[in-house]
Amino acid sequence: MIDPLDTIMAIMGESFDPVWGEAWNRAQVASSMDMPTTHLALLTADCLPPTSRNPAVCFALTRAAPGEEELLLIAVHPDHRKNGLGTRLLTLLAEDARGRGAERLFLEMRENNPAASLYRSVGYKPIGRRHAYYKLSDGSRLDAITFAKKL
Ligand SMILES: CC(C)(COP(=O)(O)OP(=O)(O)OC[C@H]1O[C@@H](n2cnc3c(N)ncnc32)[C@H](O)[C@@H]1OP(=O)(O)O)[C@@H](O)C(=O)NCCC(=O)NCCS
Repeated sequence: MIDPLDTIMAIMGESFDPVWGEAWNRAQVASSMDMPTTHLALLTADCLPPTSRNPAVCFALTRAAPGEEELLLIAVHPDHRKNGLGTRLLTLLAEDARGRGAERLFLEMRENNPAASLYRSVGYKPIGRRHAYYKLSDGSRLDAITFAKKL
């Protein structure tokens, strides 16, 4: 089995445009995965758990707190987008979070991320804004929009 951290970093390296400054570095992902409250979902192109012969092409990382869970990162490799994998990951993590006792899910997204339509389609609603939260590679800033979903 391929190391999950290697898998995440490989998918992330292809998925996030560096201009937005959204991707995490290896140390950030590793330290998050060391926390017992962090949960990882990995799926293959055919929506299955990965094996050494059929590696993951997408992932979602969440952090649990009492009664809630936060989506930290989600990415689908560019070669496998628009096939429903993002939707499947979000559905899976909602089911898993509910099983862990969560009543609400949260996520934060840069204000112009087209992923907003995906989040809305699975029941997330915008509930707040953090001013100038993201720093772009050109030094400018973008707000973060907080979305929540009731389970
Ligand atoms: C956002 C992301 C995870 C979506 O993955 P995906 O597998 O393509 O999502 P789905 O196939 O389930 O898409 C479902 C719907 O969401 C919308 N959608 C998803 N990504 C979109 C995008 N980049 N632009 C416009 N609409 C998008 C579409 O309306 C789509 O519906 P359709 O199939 O009827 O066209 C993927 O584009 C990605 O990895 N992006 C880069 C990383 C990122 O921005 N992550 C989110 C911030 S942490």
